Amino acid sequence: MSAPRVVIFERAEAGRHVARRILERARTNRLRTLGVATGSSAEPVYVALAESSDARDALSGTTAYALDEYVGLAGADVNSYRSTLERQFVRPLGLPATALRVPDGAAPDPSAEAERYELELAGRGGADLQLLGIGSNGHIAFNEPGADLAGRTHVVDLTAQTRADNARFFADPAQVPIRAITQGVGTIMSADELILLAFGPEKADALHAALAGPVTSRVPASALQRHPSLTVLADADAARHLSESVLGMRDRRSRAPLSRPQR
Ligand code: GLP
Repeated sequence: MSAPRVVIFERAEAGRHVARRILERARTNRLRTLGVATGSSAEPVYVALAESSDARDALSGTTAYALDEYVGLAGADVNSYRSTLERQFVRPLGLPATALRVPDGAAPDPSAEAERYELELAGRGGADLQLLGIGSNGHIAFNEPGADLAGRTHVVDLTAQTRADNARFFADPAQVPIRAITQGVGTIMSADELILLAFGPEKADALHAALAGPVTSRVPASALQRHPSLTVLADADAARHLSESVLGMRDRRSRAPLSRPQR
């Protein structure tokens, strides 16, 4: 197990850094599949990709696979992860709709759909590079505390905290779905390379628990410590509880004052 590489960048700078990494892999034919995350953390990456003049060409041989989707929302629903990723990633880059694969949240049998999606992604050899955000409760994708750290794509009940965190996207909090289809932690861990993005003070506790705490299903993101190729990009607010030992490899150029862990 190698220590995760943690780099301190503000959001837009992190987005440009990750976009360069994605395009470098794509241009050297090492990006048949790109794992895309929905949420505000990955957005700067999509913005930076859209600003690159050759991203469309570079990604012409790449298929993007989403981490998760709400159960009960059709792809066309404005709040579905499919439509969010079409708005943030597919259309700004000028990619064909077929370049994005997302579990079907409106499938009549969500568990069967989860299994189908897992097999489809496995059939492509898994994600070559997977983008990840982290929930304020330590979730990755929609793997909530208590998740099986070896799990594959499955249907999950969302926690009250996740529903509250995501309510900002919905007109009425009661509209936030109660279930989702999510890649399992085991699915995510089978990606060749992982990039975790975390910004803002509301992610500080979760990021500390994920990187400096024990590997435990109580914090699904802690499983990432065991991945051989994990890079974490965080801003100073999200990284404020990380000690210098975790930050040993961080980018010296953007050194920012960081407090010691509080616990
Ligand atoms: C959401 C998504 C995750 C995302 C995380 C953080 O619920 N299911 O894939 O990474 O929570 O979201 P954000 O980046 O908006 O903070």
